[in-house]
Amino acid sequence: MKVFHAQSQLKQQLQPFIQAKQTIGFVPTMGAIHKGHLSLLEQAMNENDVVVMSIFVNPTQFNNSEDLAKYPRTLEKDLGLIEALSDKIIVYAPTVDDIYEGNTVAQHFDYDGLDNEMEGSNRPGHFNGVGTIVKKLFEIAQPTKAYFGEKDFQQLQIIRKMVEKNNMNIDVVGCPIFREANGLAMSSRNERLSAQAKDKAALIYKTLKAAKTVFSEKDVKDSVNFVAYAFENEADFKLEYFIIADEASLKTATEKEADKKYRAFIVVHIEGVRLIDNITLN
Ligand code: PAJ
Repeated sequence: MKVFHAQSQLKQQLQPFIQAKQTIGFVPTMGAIHKGHLSLLEQAMNENDVVVMSIFVNPTQFNNSEDLAKYPRTLEKDLGLIEALSDKIIVYAPTVDDIYEGNTVAQHFDYDGLDNEMEGSNRPGHFNGVGTIVKKLFEIAQPTKAYFGEKDFQQLQIIRKMVEKNNMNIDVVGCPIFREANGLAMSSRNERLSAQAKDKAALIYKTLKAAKTVFSEKDVKDSVNFVAYAFENEADFKLEYFIIADEASLKTATEKEADKKYRAFIVVHIEGVRLIDNITLN
């Protein structure tokens, strides 16, 4: 496994692959690697000649300096997990200076309003920070295909929009949500849950699946009411939102319309940990 901390070294390493027109698969992460990240790596390895994974806690996408400081940084452990999967992965783990070159200011992006919905409305500027870093990483790694998890579906759609608007020649691949055996979506935040809460959190995906059935048999409103009711008497959970949205615009739906693809999005708090999940509906 090769690990680079400087973009100049990474570029040098990738140059022969680019010249030989080999395919480069790219998986950007902020580290604290878990099986969800590794599932993206595996898909990238199956579909490309060479795979680059970046590990970088991006300051411009945090709107709270406390969250940024608290974000787990476990590079040695992460490298061990990546190496165990394959010794062929190229890791880029830059310093803030190496990638931002002294200018840690987020660029402003026009995502056609995708950033105003759901996760964007509580986190002003967050998706500008994500776009800023992903664009920089794309310029450095020059990927053929870039892999993003459907776990952060809004982020995936926003990256697709950025690639489209900037005419970048990159295939953005959405990867399925990797789950614990009980259905809980893998996340580094799950580590903060007690064993009991982890068990209980199985309710989130179970409810999403049931809401999908309600949606297919009835309508948006029935599905939304069903989920509100499911969490109403669950003292350990606080439902922040359950939204059914059109996959393309991410606008909240109130009624089913023909030819549209819908997805349900949920945010639930348990033991003070904010968990997100989603499911495709049709
Ligand atoms: P991070 O939260 O580390 O996630 C890196 C990638 O892993 C994202 O594409 C995310 O959707 C995916 N991922 C996380 N958990 C997953 C799961 N259970 N199943 C499938 N995929 C999962 O997302 C970011 O980092 C950052 O915003 C980044 C894109 C790296 C920009 O800084």
